Formats: sequence, structure tokens, C-alpha cells
Amino acid sequence: MPRLDQRRTPFFDVLMDYVTAGTIPFHTPGHKQGIGMHKRMRDFIGENVLAIDLTQVGNLDDLNVPTGPLLAAHKLAAQAWGADHTHFLINGSTAGNQAMLMTALRPGDTVILPRNSHKSAVSALIMSAARPVYMQPEVDQSLHLDHCVTPATVERTLADHPEAKAVFITSPTYYGATADLAEIERIVHAAGKLLLIDEAWGPHLHFHPELPPSATSVGADVCVNSTHKLLAAMSQSSMIHVCGSRIDLGRLQSTLRIFQSTSPNQVLLASLDVARMQMATQGEELLGRTLALARQARERLNAIPGVYCMGLDQVGKPGVAGYDETRLVITVKDLEYTGYEADRILRKRYNVQIELADLFNVVALVSLGNTQEHIDRLIFAVSELAREDRPIDIYSPTGVLTDRMKKKSYHLPPIPELVVTPREAFLSDHVEVPFRSSAGRVCAEVVTPYPPGIPLICPGERLTKETIDYLRLELKAGVHIQGPVDEKLRTIRVLP
Ligand SMILES: Cc1ncc(COP(=O)(O)O)c(C=O)c1O
Repeated sequence: MPRLDQRRTPFFDVLMDYVTAGTIPFHTPGHKQGIGMHKRMRDFIGENVLAIDLTQVGNLDDLNVPTGPLLAAHKLAAQAWGADHTHFLINGSTAGNQAMLMTALRPGDTVILPRNSHKSAVSALIMSAARPVYMQPEVDQSLHLDHCVTPATVERTLADHPEAKAVFITSPTYYGATADLAEIERIVHAAGKLLLIDEAWGPHLHFHPELPPSATSVGADVCVNSTHKLLAAMSQSSMIHVCGSRIDLGRLQSTLRIFQSTSPNQVLLASLDVARMQMATQGEELLGRTLALARQARERLNAIPGVYCMGLDQVGKPGVAGYDETRLVITVKDLEYTGYEADRILRKRYNVQIELADLFNVVALVSLGNTQEHIDRLIFAVSELAREDRPIDIYSPTGVLTDRMKKKSYHLPPIPELVVTPREAFLSDHVEVPFRSSAGRVCAEVVTPYPPGIPLICPGERLTKETIDYLRLELKAGVHIQGPVDEKLRTIRVLP
């Protein structure tokens, strides 16, 4: 394909043309370019956003069947990310993962995926009726967090499951580690399987040579990017990229129609068009600045006694083939705080909001919207948190991470037996039973301790005494449990 002019923003332009033309709107949305919206909200968000909050009329194109400016925007994005086809998403990478897995799999197909996959992958298993084979990701014992799966794990699992149709990989992780995608691509394609990559946390990787390789650059069959998470698109705006010819594009298109609204928010779509233009024309410069800020922050954080911020020093450890240095994982356990407490203090006392907290760490994302002042405020807040003469903090009255919690090891119980598929478990009737006596029952829920975010039980798996004992200890140690309706795990939903 000839090189396209990446300075263009065909979809954003067509929205602005509509506004300039002064067209009289007898179409949705009902606020009619803001005129009907209550003043309180209109005054705050401003006329311009509302003027382009339009619907799919005239030449504004149709996300579900793009033929005009949206198709042009998709082609520009594909070329910018080095893909063969790209489609915009307005329900985040959640919809992207669901569409990716549903396109690749048929009922009964086996898919190999890491145990720490995002919940959208689990919901895709429910919808597709596929049969999961889980791989255990690598875990860092001292930081209590999960990394990627290794090529050796992928190779071994494929050898044990030659019937598998596809391999699904998450890279980067929430904590910034990236998998050895080039080697995994070699293994998966040599075995004749599809490679699907959840790159929700890596929309920027493609645009700076000092960041780890992107999924499209290694030839993944499909990958999903949360453009909104780390680039300048608006929340919910993501992209799905396809490389090569192993994916049936017609099926992908029909699957996307299941997951996307017929009234997509045009502002979100325009923000994707402009975010692509920004990356294609200024990406390296903007990310270079972002990397410089993050590197400076990391160095200053590591100079604070008792604080550790991981970085390239982790590369080469199991499950860390590369590292996204824009991620600041700040380990606070030696300050005697849990990450949850540090999160609360940083917010309430210093007005600094981080992205994620777990038992030992808080995670700050540095992106193209951050400034030197933001970094200075973060460093000041963490230095204050680390002061030896710090006052007893009203937001963390205990301020003491027990030795027991610090020494708690991470020997995850084995992945339980899959009795029925996640879909069968989800669609079945459920009964609630006391968790402590649920061994032997087939679970209907996902149970995920945070950290490290690896589900210990997934729908359709048999509960074991070992898993129940492990989870009860986790709860005692103050670990947050996500997934079950009863998050305190007094009860659990199982199949009758
Ligand atoms: C690894 C991973 N994949 C997918 C998603 C879903 O992304 P989105 O929020 O864009 O729907 C997330 C969200 O945090 C995620 O962490």
C-alpha cells in the first residue's frame, strides 16, 4: 500500500465540516448539539464537544460498516501501527478481547491462555463456549506481583495440547513487563496456531525504539490496544489490529457488531483518529519526553530510603523479556505500609492519585499528559511517606505491615481441574454454599486475589481444600479478593 499522509484526520474533519455547515439536526442524540442539555452540564463540558456528539447520518459513516471517512481513519491507523487492518473500538479493549477470541474460536475449541488474563478474556470464554487451558505466569515472590508467561511455558503447553486452536498472551502486564513476543510468535506459528495478543497496556510501544517491541511488529495475528489507557484518546477508545491473512476479516467484522453499539460516540472515534495522527507525526518526540520524565522519577524514587521502583534491572528475570519504563511500580513494603494504605495517604494527604494499589506496591502511569510538576509532586509525596519521623497518619492508623504479610510466600496452589466449560458453568443454575466447606463442588465464579491478580478458581473448575485454605490465608493477610459476589468469601456460588 502507498504511504498515507499521517497528518490527515479524515474522521475528525468530517465531524467539523458538519458543524461548520450549520446543518439543522433532526436526528439523535436528543440534546441536538448541546442546545437541549441542561446548562449545568453544558457550561462545564463546553459547546464544542457537544457540537460533534453526532450520530451516524449523512456522510458521518457507520462504525459497523465503515465505507467513508472511518474506513480512511482505520487504514491510516493500520499503517501507523504496522498492521494490515485496524478497527476502532468504543467499548475498550474489553470489546477487543471479546471480539478477538470470538473471531478465532468455535464452541469446543481449545485456547491456551495465561491464568492472569483480564476478565474480558474470561467473558469471551463464556460467550464463545471455548475450552481454556491455562498457563501459570511467572511470579515475583518478593514484590508479590505477576509477570508474563515464558516461551518455554507456551511451548510446553502447546506440546501437551496439540488440539489447541490459538494462544492468547497478555503483554505488557499491568506492572509493565513484556513477554518475549518474537520467540512466542515463532513457537506458535511453527505449531500452526493463531497468536492473539492482549496489548491493552501497550498502545505506545510501536512509536519509540527504546520501548519493547509491539505485537504488530512481531507479527501477531491479532492484537488489542487500549489507546485510551496510555495515549491521548478518550476513555473507552481502543483499537484492534490484524496482521497477515490467518484471521477471517468478515467474521471479525460480524463479531464486532455483536459487541459495539449501533450509536457509537463520535467524539470517542474522533479522539482515536487524532491520537493516531499525534503518534504517527510526533510519537517518538512525545514518548521520548515521557520516557525522560519516567526515568528521572524512577531514579529519584530509588534514592528515597526504603522505596524501590523496578525498571530495566528486572529484564531477564523469568517472564520479563522487556520492560516499559513509563510504568512506575513503587514498592512501599519496607516503609511498613501496604500499597492500599500508601494509595490512600497519597490521595488524601498529597492529592496525588495513582493507578493501582496492591499489598506491597502502588503503580503510577507516566504518559504524554504528565509534566515535570506532576513528577515533582509525586516524588515529594513519596518522600514524605518515607520520612522516619512521619506523624501517625490518620489515613493509615496502623501503618504497620506485619512481618507475616511481608514474608508470605507465593506458592500458588495448582490450577484446579476443569469439570465443565466456563460457558456451561455460567449458564447453569447456581447455589450459594459456605466457602470453607465447598471442596469438591464446581465453582460458578472467578476468584482472584489482588495481588497478584491471578485467578485461583475460574468458572467450571472444581474447588479443592488446598485452594480454599490458601484463599482463607490470603484473606487473613488483608489481600483483596475480586470476582465473587461475596468478596469476603463467607459463601461461594457453585453448580447444584
Ligand atoms: C490486560 C488488560 N486487558 C484488557 C483490559 C480491558 O481494557 P479496557 O478498559 O480498555 O476495556 C484491561 C483493563 O484494565 C487490562 O488490564
